[in-house]
Amino acid sequence: MTRAHAALVVVLAVLPSCTRAPTDPGERTVAALTADFAGAYPKTVTEDGPTHVYALTAAPAVLPLLDGRPLAVWAYDGQVPGPILRGVVGERLRVHFTNALPIDTTVHWHGVRVPNAMDGAPGVTQAPIHPGESFDYEFVPKDAGTFWFHPHLRSSEAIERGLFGVLIVEDRDPPPYTRDVVWVLDDWRLGPDGAIDPHFVTPHDLMHDGRWGNVVTVNGHVRETLDVRPGERFRLRLVNTANGRVFAPDFSALHAVVIAVDGMYAARPLPPTGFEIAPGNRLDLDVTIPPDAAGTTLAIVDRFTREPFALASIRVAGAPVETPRFPSPAHATVPAWTDALAVPPAHTFELTAQRGGPYGIAWTLNGQAYVEPATFDPNDHAHHGSVPFARDRFQRVRFVNASYRLHPMHVHGMFFKVLARNGVAVDEPYWRDTALVHVQETLDVGLVPLDPGRWMLHCHILEHADSGMMTTVVVEPSG
Ligand code: C2O
Ligand code: CU
Repeated sequence: MTRAHAALVVVLAVLPSCTRAPTDPGERTVAALTADFAGAYPKTVTEDGPTHVYALTAAPAVLPLLDGRPLAVWAYDGQVPGPILRGVVGERLRVHFTNALPIDTTVHWHGVRVPNAMDGAPGVTQAPIHPGESFDYEFVPKDAGTFWFHPHLRSSEAIERGLFGVLIVEDRDPPPYTRDVVWVLDDWRLGPDGAIDPHFVTPHDLMHDGRWGNVVTVNGHVRETLDVRPGERFRLRLVNTANGRVFAPDFSALHAVVIAVDGMYAARPLPPTGFEIAPGNRLDLDVTIPPDAAGTTLAIVDRFTREPFALASIRVAGAPVETPRFPSPAHATVPAWTDALAVPPAHTFELTAQRGGPYGIAWTLNGQAYVEPATFDPNDHAHHGSVPFARDRFQRVRFVNASYRLHPMHVHGMFFKVLARNGVAVDEPYWRDTALVHVQETLDVGLVPLDPGRWMLHCHILEHADSGMMTTVVVEPSG
């Protein structure tokens, strides 16, 4: 039996609706690509272990942030970044959320494969949570990694004001790093009075790559410094929560490899060069401090913009510790999908802007500006305007950036693999939930949707999303 034949047998076994071997060659390629996905991130996880229960409140606060001055913000549990919630893969997480903000909100678990009703998409998966109301989010994480949570309603304002937190889902057997460090990358646009500039979704933001701030912070602080000992081997989790800014940290001062992208482990450890961390993206590094590095300070410089600037630094001091030796956790199954470009795109999204809408300029997908449903009806299964994504089946999805701005495109509820940029095949040995589409670029991605429901697809530059660059895709239950 040939390998392709074996693949077909596998796909026939897993696809209940597929009763005959496909005869059309395109169909055959799709079946083989779908079969290649077997062994990638799993469809389900068996729940096993205790339930982790958290209470989480969003409310206005005044906090010493940035360089230490009091700043009026909106915060989860009175802190910015919000609390780090920790879970374990396969163990239930329950978050009792309360809205003490002056506006409606929801909580979206960015990158987490949650049941659709827990996804926090207002008008699509739940009704907005009004001020004074509560909502219980509950799910069993299927993937270990670095995720984050944020509002999905007026997110350009809510996230800029400080509403974001990190969710770490631990492996059942976490690799024995000497420490686990989270760096939340963000920027803030302050007015002349030093307060958060209260003008949101301005024509300037819309004509550019969203709202870029005049102060950059790591974990809410300017010039964050991490103290470590020589010999340490730690995990560094980077999360970009900025509205529009892209980061390209230069890790050349570190002995480091990338082990995970957008939460998911890579197929193998990768050199930490050439990664652009767009809004929504995460990057996990495995960092080793040389035993003789005491007394040194390692600077991390951002090089995305023409003017590089110091993002954070690592100060090495004290007696050396023994470097833990263990194999890299980066050994995920990521199909090569080299035949994927032979299959035509199942869906193409053209990214453009037009005049009009509530902000004067609207960013669009295929000429359509998204309007949030005014009401939520859990029994409305018509899914008006949703793009149908086939469940349990490979499909190629194309983003055509017809504009001169950046668009980090994000899909809820599934991961995808970048196949090509401008028609040239690229092999990224990792999954993503957000991919930056550069100016005038065409990006092809491959995916196999597993979880039924209505999932958001949008630009993660929040001003672009709020002005309309958002839509829903519907993955129907099979059978
Ligand atoms: Cu982080 Cu739909 O978003
Ligand atoms: Cu955009």
